[in-house]
Amino acid sequence: MNISQARRFLGMCDRILVITGAGISSESGIPTFRGAGERWRDRHVSELATPAAFEEDPRLIWDWYSYRREIVARSEPNAAHIALANWAKGRTGVTLVTQNVDGLHERAGHPEVAHIHGSLWHNRCTECDKEREDLALLYPELPRSPCCGALERPAIVWFGERLPAKTREQALAAAMDAEAIVTIGTSGKVATAASLVRIGKLRHAEIFDVNPEHSCIEANSRFAGLAGEIIPQLLAA
Ligand code: APR
Repeated sequence: MNISQARRFLGMCDRILVITGAGISSESGIPTFRGAGERWRDRHVSELATPAAFEEDPRLIWDWYSYRREIVARSEPNAAHIALANWAKGRTGVTLVTQNVDGLHERAGHPEVAHIHGSLWHNRCTECDKEREDLALLYPELPRSPCCGALERPAIVWFGERLPAKTREQALAAAMDAEAIVTIGTSGKVATAASLVRIGKLRHAEIFDVNPEHSCIEANSRFAGLAGEIIPQLLAA
């Protein structure tokens, strides 16, 4: 389908799953994981975003998250976040699942966001798993849980960790049920987006992928371009 056909098709669907990845935030100035954000202080993201790396050197990992928090705090939602939020506000039956932890969908006014990889702005106690919002940018002292004083970690799903059960169930249900799935700015190299698409496809959902590069998403239609240009056309409110 071309963009106009896809827009009309989506307009007729009652249940749509939208999955966003790092690419939707790249026009806001946030580096993608398999691009400019792939390395920090000469380490690969796959070495940093692991429970083992945190156990070995929590200061290093919190410094990396401070660096990322500072970038996101300076960023604004872009045309893609805004068009998607306005479109979703005007209809029912849309589920948004994001791999992004930056919170830009909420800042664009998106009504409901399923954060399948966690949030940059939440910490989790390493002892009792209690989570809390924390908007700090710098950590002169490593953050400690107000409940028991134990060290906190970023409330993010790292490599090798399980997805949060409730969000995972919600995403799976939406994928099983969707008439259409729209993926935006994901390489499809992380299992989360790729497996949801595979499930949707088995259930005969139509798959649309928005990405300037060829992704691993098994799409029926690909829109090769920047999300900030394509999404306002595809999801005209
Ligand atoms: N519009 C649309 N897509 C874009 C844009 C843009 N302006 N800029 C870049 N992209 C695409 C890239 O071509 C790439 O395919 O976004 C994709 C970003 O890929 P990744 O960085 O792999 O992001 P994602 O698929 O979301 O995987 C990131 O990996 O490290 C883990 O859990 C972490 O959530 C994170 C996940």
